[in-house]
Amino acid sequence: MSTPKKYVIIAIDGPAGSGKSTVAKLVAARLGLLYIDTGAMYRALTLKASMRGLDFKDEGSLIKLAGSTDIDLRQDRGVLKVRLDGEDVTSSIRTSELTNNVRYVAGVPGVRKRMVELQRALGRRRGAVLEGRDIGTVVFPDAKFKFYLDADIKERARRRHKDILAQGDSLSLELVERDVASRDVSDMTRSVGALKKADDAVLIDTTGLTIAEVVERVISHIEHK
Ligand code: DC
Repeated sequence: MSTPKKYVIIAIDGPAGSGKSTVAKLVAARLGLLYIDTGAMYRALTLKASMRGLDFKDEGSLIKLAGSTDIDLRQDRGVLKVRLDGEDVTSSIRTSELTNNVRYVAGVPGVRKRMVELQRALGRRRGAVLEGRDIGTVVFPDAKFKFYLDADIKERARRRHKDILAQGDSLSLELVERDVASRDVSDMTRSVGALKKADDAVLIDTTGLTIAEVVERVISHIEHK
């Protein structure tokens, strides 16, 4: 009988703009682990639903769609590539319209069940740093290391605004702050997989910290645990 492989899971949760994606990517690279952006998976499914013209309120169709969709994440020369049914959708899942629609797809319990299965299968391949909203509470409640990143809403909005401008889009900072606040509400009030700090997660307030400082805190905690 073969012994189950040992794999290390690092869970990083937090709201939009808390810095978790950048930090998770760098921590994964430092430790030689796979980086899994679970938000990208919900985004990819939302893209498929919208390409099919599905009604975001039709939960049955969204669940069926999730069951027949393959989403895979691969590192390609240091860049995370998102594949939806074999097709590269990395650059089409970040538009503002899609960002606003993810909440409908991510709010359906049957969809989350399927996404959680996929995330567990990806994580168990060889260990990983997973970032999202429910990693430490639902996807890998037994993860060895759990972090919850947070920051002041104004700073989170400023970071998102900078990303949006860098993508070549133009939205006012006020509008971005309103979007971030409204995403917080949907993320925190979902009936399943709501954004919540796991009791055993290490809280890091990233307001006023550089990315490098946050990465150092995470790594130092892992090394000293
Ligand atoms: O991290 P992000 O902004 O790319 O996530 C996109 C959306 O997906 C976000 O509005 C919340 C949702 N999401 C989720 O419900 N559960 C996760 N584990 C990750 C993201």
